[in-house]
Parts: sequence; structure tokens; C-alpha cells
Amino acid sequence: MKQLYVIGDPVTHSKSPLLHNTMCALLGLDYEYACRTVKREELAGFLTAVKGENCAGFNATMPFKELLLPYLDALDPLASRLGAVNTVCIKDGKLYGYNTDCPGYIAALRRRGFDPKGKRAVLLGAGGAAKAVAVGLCEAGAEVFVANRTSDKAKALTALFPHQMYPMAWPDLHAPELARADLLVNATSLGMVGQGQFGDFAFLQALPPACLVSDLIYHPTPTELLRRAAAQGLATMGGFPLLIHQAILALEYFTGQTIPPDAVLPALERAVGAQG
Ligand code: ATR
Repeated sequence: MKQLYVIGDPVTHSKSPLLHNTMCALLGLDYEYACRTVKREELAGFLTAVKGENCAGFNATMPFKELLLPYLDALDPLASRLGAVNTVCIKDGKLYGYNTDCPGYIAALRRRGFDPKGKRAVLLGAGGAAKAVAVGLCEAGAEVFVANRTSDKAKALTALFPHQMYPMAWPDLHAPELARADLLVNATSLGMVGQGQFGDFAFLQALPPACLVSDLIYHPTPTELLRRAAAQGLATMGGFPLLIHQAILALEYFTGQTIPPDAVLPALERAVGAQG
């Protein structure tokens, strides 16, 4: 049996072991997936040790998505563009880095029946999670309007795709981008348990009736943003679909096998109690 991990600090709350072990059991894959708390200063030691174990790879969460980069032997072009990895494969003592957050989000949208090509998206946030969403949406052919509390960070993010991404005012009911949006994505930490909350939700009223409202947060499910969007009659997508799709893509890298989403989605959705 080969070992897989998710590393981070904190990490014990992670749903990755549940998702990966569910898929491995279902598909008869001989892997065991566990949480491993690794502190920042323990990263180099962990990497040396894990190369000596029967370990096929690991996922990375806070604070390692960027910190891992200098230790990798090879970096996938998308992960290089994002400057962040969430999946590392170990082969012959070498470390190969990938990012499945970005394609995972697009796969989740497509599964929801939303093809980003030619669509207009309003993205709230300009941190690491927002960057993965923004790059995914632009590569899939959408236009993205980025609103962030700190406007300079929104401007810096839009520079990645200057012909498809534009900064906009932090959600302001009167912003014209809202009235024309096909998709609104919350990639800030607002609404997460233990974090702050949106000051008001008036901006939702500016969205057209066909707009999909997506929140990357799944703790709680649904978030207050999605609860209010649904009450207004808007379609919503919670954080579980991204979590699930990034895990499917990561397991494909770890095992080298194609995993048809239809074969695993019902079991994964049951496992996380997905409602989003
Ligand atoms: P992650 O990796 O989860 O994306 P991050 O890179 O720290 O985390 O980004 C957090 C995002 O949430 C940022 O867009 C941040 O806005 P700033 O760039 O202005 O800091 C946003 N955010 C966090 N707290 C916020 C708050 N109280 N109001 C508005 N935006 C907030």
C-alpha cells in the first residue's frame, strides 16, 4: 500500500483524507491518505523524510502552497504561472509540483452546466484562491472583473490577463459590471466560520436573474452570501464542488490513472454531505 498525505498547519480539519480514501476504496486503488501536521520550519525535514517513505505524493494547504516552490525538482507550467502548488508527486526521489485548484474550479463550474467561454465574471478577492479562479476563468475564455478591498491587489491580479481582466470597485451596488455578470465568485475569506462577514449584501440585488453565485467557502454550507442569493432566486454553487474536483485531479496525478468523475462524484458528495 502506498501512502499519500495532506500537509499543512493547521491541517487536521482537512476533508482531503475523506475524499481520497473514499475514491481509493471505490476504485480499488491501493493507497492510504492521511493528514500530516507540518510546521513551517519542519518543511525541509519533512521533504527529506518523505522521499525515503513508500509515499506517492502529497497535497499542500496553508502555508505551503507557495513555500514549496523552491524545493521542487519540476513545476507544471500552470502551477508556475500561479506561483502555487497544491499537489506534489514523488517519483524516484524527485518532487513534481502541480496545481489542481485552478482546473478543479473550472471542472466544478462545467459540471454545474456553466461554460465560462464568453461569459462575464465578477470576482471578489485578489488573494491566492482568487488568483487560481481568475486564471482558470481567463484560460477558459471568460472576462473577469476583480473587486478587492485593497484595490492595488486587484490591479496587480488583472495584469496577468490585461485583455480579459479588469479591476472594479469593491462590491458596490452601482457598479455596472454587476448588472451584466453571468457569474459572481466570492474568493475572499468573508463568510467563513471565524472570519469576518460582508458589511451588507445589497450588491446581490444588482445581479441579473440568470447570474450564478459561487462561494469557495464550504464552512459553513451554505454561506450567508449563498443563502441570500438563493432567497433572491439566484442559482448558487458552494465550496464543496471545487474541493471535490481538485481532489479528483490530484488523485489522477498521484496514481497516473484517469478517474471518470461519474464513477466517484455521488460517493464524494455523500461523503462531504455536499449541499452546494
Ligand atoms: P487565500 O489564499 O484564501 O486566497 P489570502 O491570499 O490571504 O487567502 O486572500 C484573502 C482575500 O480575502 C483577500 O482578497 C482579502 O482582501 P485584501 O487583499 O484587501 O486583504 C480578502 N479579505 C479578507 N478579509 C477581508 C475583509 N474583512 N473585507 C474584505 N476582504 C477581505
